[in-house]
Amino acid sequence: MVMSYRCSASTKLTWILASLLILVRTIQVRAQLPSGFINIDCGWKNGSSYVDDVLRMPYSFDGEYVESGVSHEMLPEFMADSENKQEITLRSFPDGSRNCYTLPSTTGKKYLLRATFTYGNYDRLNKSLDGSLFLFGLHIGVNFWATVNLSNWDPSLTVWKEVITVAPSNSLSVCLINFGSGVPFISTLELRPLLDAMYPFVNTSVSVSNFQRFRFGNVNTFITRYPTDYYDRWWDSFSMSKVDYSTSMISLNTSNNLESLPGNSNFSVPSAILQNASTRDTNQSSITINVAAGPNLGANDLQLLPIFHFTEINMTNPNRRFDIYSKDVLMFPDFSPSQLQVHSMYKSGQFMQNADGYFFLNKTSSSSLPPLINALELYSLVRMDNLTTDSDDVNYMKQIKTYYKLARTSWNGDPCSPREYSWEGLICDHSKSNQNPRIVTVNLSTSGLSGGFAISFMNMTSLENLDLSHNNLTGAIPDYQLKSLKVLDLSNNKINGPIPDSILQRFQAGLLDLRLEGNPVCSKVKDTYCSKKKKSIPILLIAVIVPVVLISLLVMMCILWKLCWKGKSVDNEDYAMYEEETPLNIDIRRFTYAELKLITNDFKTIVGKGGFGMVYHGTLENSDEVAVKVLMETSIADSTDFLPEVQTLSKVHHKNLVALKGYCQNKKCLALVYDFMSRGNLQQLIRGGDDDGANWEQRLQIALDAAQGLEYLHESCTPAIVHRDVKTPNILLDRNLVGIISDFGLSRAFDDAHTHISTVAAGTLGYLDPEYHATFQLTVKTDVYSFGIVLLEIITGQPPVIMEPQTVHLPNWVRQKIAKGSIHDVADKRLLDQYDASSLQSVIDLAMNCVESAAIDRPTMAEVVSRLKVWLPAVSNEKQSVSASAWRTHSVDAETRKQFQLMISDKESSFISGYTDGPSELNPLSGR
Ligand SMILES: *[C@@H]1O[C@H](CO)[C@@H](O)[C@H](O)[C@H]1NC(C)=O
Ligand SMILES: *[C@@H]1O[C@H](CO)[C@@H](O)[C@H](O)[C@H]1NC(C)=O
Ligand SMILES: *[C@@H]1O[C@H](CO)[C@@H](O)[C@H](O)[C@H]1NC(C)=O
Ligand SMILES: *[C@@H]1O[C@H](CO)[C@@H](O)[C@H](O)[C@H]1NC(C)=O
Ligand SMILES: *[C@@H]1O[C@H](CO)[C@@H](O)[C@H](O)[C@H]1NC(C)=O
Ligand SMILES: *[C@@H]1O[C@H](CO)[C@@H](O)[C@H](O)[C@H]1NC(C)=O
Repeated sequence: MVMSYRCSASTKLTWILASLLILVRTIQVRAQLPSGFINIDCGWKNGSSYVDDVLRMPYSFDGEYVESGVSHEMLPEFMADSENKQEITLRSFPDGSRNCYTLPSTTGKKYLLRATFTYGNYDRLNKSLDGSLFLFGLHIGVNFWATVNLSNWDPSLTVWKEVITVAPSNSLSVCLINFGSGVPFISTLELRPLLDAMYPFVNTSVSVSNFQRFRFGNVNTFITRYPTDYYDRWWDSFSMSKVDYSTSMISLNTSNNLESLPGNSNFSVPSAILQNASTRDTNQSSITINVAAGPNLGANDLQLLPIFHFTEINMTNPNRRFDIYSKDVLMFPDFSPSQLQVHSMYKSGQFMQNADGYFFLNKTSSSSLPPLINALELYSLVRMDNLTTDSDDVNYMKQIKTYYKLARTSWNGDPCSPREYSWEGLICDHSKSNQNPRIVTVNLSTSGLSGGFAISFMNMTSLENLDLSHNNLTGAIPDYQLKSLKVLDLSNNKINGPIPDSILQRFQAGLLDLRLEGNPVCSKVKDTYCSKKKKSIPILLIAVIVPVVLISLLVMMCILWKLCWKGKSVDNEDYAMYEEETPLNIDIRRFTYAELKLITNDFKTIVGKGGFGMVYHGTLENSDEVAVKVLMETSIADSTDFLPEVQTLSKVHHKNLVALKGYCQNKKCLALVYDFMSRGNLQQLIRGGDDDGANWEQRLQIALDAAQGLEYLHESCTPAIVHRDVKTPNILLDRNLVGIISDFGLSRAFDDAHTHISTVAAGTLGYLDPEYHATFQLTVKTDVYSFGIVLLEIITGQPPVIMEPQTVHLPNWVRQKIAKGSIHDVADKRLLDQYDASSLQSVIDLAMNCVESAAIDRPTMAEVVSRLKVWLPAVSNEKQSVSASAWRTHSVDAETRKQFQLMISDKESSFISGYTDGPSELNPLSGR
């Protein structure tokens, strides 16, 4: 006969009450709280704690454990049903996707933590019975623990969840997660310390969630808990939950003392529980226990780990043997309980799929009596894979939060983990999978901060970027060693104290980007960190040289214009044609001027300048960052090639080529929108002061990236595209330091207007192919030459033309150095000799090979790629071949072909690239 138990993790409050009343009467109850117990009555409004009449344990107000949420009481009609005080009040969390309680704990200690939820229709919305989904999640620390499902639930019933876990630090947090299906709430929280030896399968990476816990025999209390169970586990009475139990089962009990076997003390089940057992009539052979999921327990909870507790309490010491099954899996064959000795049978760490929740105890053929059982625990697995944030970082962030009295909804629970709930304004490094996440960026710009600079920031050893701009910070910056900090933005505050030497030194060494403009201290000092621009040195140069050069360019172009396009007026009417819908089929986004204005925040942040206009930083609606190149009207006024050009560019797709995301073309603007490359360009990386210049591997990887981009232009496009202006400022770097080629073939857009000067050389001084220079024959080998110069720059850290002590071209400099000494004299000092000498030798050979004066002696880009790959074997080729074939299928018509051939143009008309703001960009160029 099958004895079925429809299980749910809830208990009617009245049951608890009844059981507790009995406990109070029959057992001596201490009003003292056992050490380490924490009882929290969530939502309780009185700041002082109270002793519960029934439990004789103090319960406290939840204020010191939680910072958010709203107190409520269940409706009086449900209150009357229950005198259980803790369930009457609750705390709900209408705001924020995660809200956490933080309980004090001891690092590494094992705890049982229980939460209860009684809805009681506190919000009068009848959420649990209105037919809609009403559920929310629970996290234990930074890991998912359980779903609380109250859909179609009697509002007077309590759902309870219990977890056994190891505290990862000196606090243990329990978080309620809003799933968007009802406002999370909680009624009570109880924390019970366990012995370390208990539940040995629970460790820092595995916790278990209680599914069911039964005691057997003739028990007249619904729930047995503290003080019977010293650890306050809740044991359901199997007999009281099952109506036909009494007729089908036989109860046994004993008052004899039980003995726990050595090694079987892992569960410390109270004797009072094990002194009772259930068995069957002697003509029956099996006990069936069904714990099928109730309506509010999902089937995946039924990956269960059962722990069976047995002790023989028939004093005649009978021959009793049985097999123990989880569904049809034999877990323990031929088990025989020992008299008055406790056996806890479990398979450590084995969570068995048992979707119907059936367990069988089947008598073996040699047994003279049917099976017996005293107690059963069932747990489901809670994986603790996600690590908490580095505890020092957490403590410093908490100090900062207190110091500035920050009350942000997302600022509770763990700062970095899980990622989707990390604190607003923080960026964390999760890259090391077995290490705790670290905080690398703190952005508290415009957060209404006042007072001094919190020194806790200075102790965060992984912090790289600190933005405290636009606040009311006063005083001085403390004199501390900021080991990791690279950016310190304190602009627009009220800082008036002196700037400590430790910071000035790092700033001067180029290790720290310090921004202090808009502070009173800047009225005393006039250093570059007090001026508006990001970069210090180029500012002066830009301020002086750029306008001069730009103006001369403009003047020159106006003159050319007048010369070549006499009679053509440049008034606004002429721009009208740009308003027309494009006749070409371009599947990239067309922006309006207003949209550009919006995404660039009114063209606020300039990230680069070029001969053809400015490059602005922008952010699309989906928060993708973009670079917006706004072409100067004079340069494109008459160009009818703009759209075909955009069309061509929009069809070139490769991971190492900058992607055109959109364009703007009307009488107000002509602009191209590209992916934004947050790490600037290769020139800045290897010669800028800010970074450490990248290591050898990173440099080789960037070289390979660039080579692959060029290989694609040369080999996979038909006809081949010659970049014509390969140089370090044109190799951009994305967030992950992947090299991305920009400005390929862009100059074509302006060719027709300037065909009369098409014999002027292309390219940039120092990168010029001498053969092209002599013949004006533009081939892919022109790019190979320029790429060779780029490689040499990567190796040496030197500019293509070295000015001091005398002007020398980089390839000659390298030749001289090698002739005089060893190859190590060539390598960039910033590499600190951290490179493999054979790879250095090979890459120098490759670079020198690329800069052979005869084009025919130079390798192709495909050869360059394969020779570089020898030193970076891990690089894959997949993406490239996919997009290459996409290009090949696109037929290029005669018109496009013509454009590809028309890539010779004057330097002035080429779009000056990258996001650099250095004056080297504006070197007037030559070929004449
Ligand atoms: C809080 O509880 C104490 C003790 O029960 C009581 O004296 C006090 O009046 C209560 N305060 C409030 C605000 O209810
Ligand atoms: C760990 O965090 C990720 C997201 O950051 C989440 O998707 C995953 O469920 C978490 N794992 C656990 C066991 O909670
Ligand atoms: C106890 O064991 C004896 C046999 O040793 C058996 O006859 C008797 O029925 C058992 N009692 C119960 C309650 O199972
Ligand atoms: C155990 O007993 C139950 C009930 O009699 C029966 O349905 C089940 O098949 C048995 N299991 C095995 C493996 O014999
Ligand atoms: C600074 O404080 C003043 C008043 O004390 C306030 O008006 C102003 O908005 C604050 N500025 C910032 C950036 O918080
Ligand atoms: C920062 O670290 C120093 C040295 O370890 C320590 O003395 C100081 O108390 C720390 N500051 C804070 C705010 O924790």
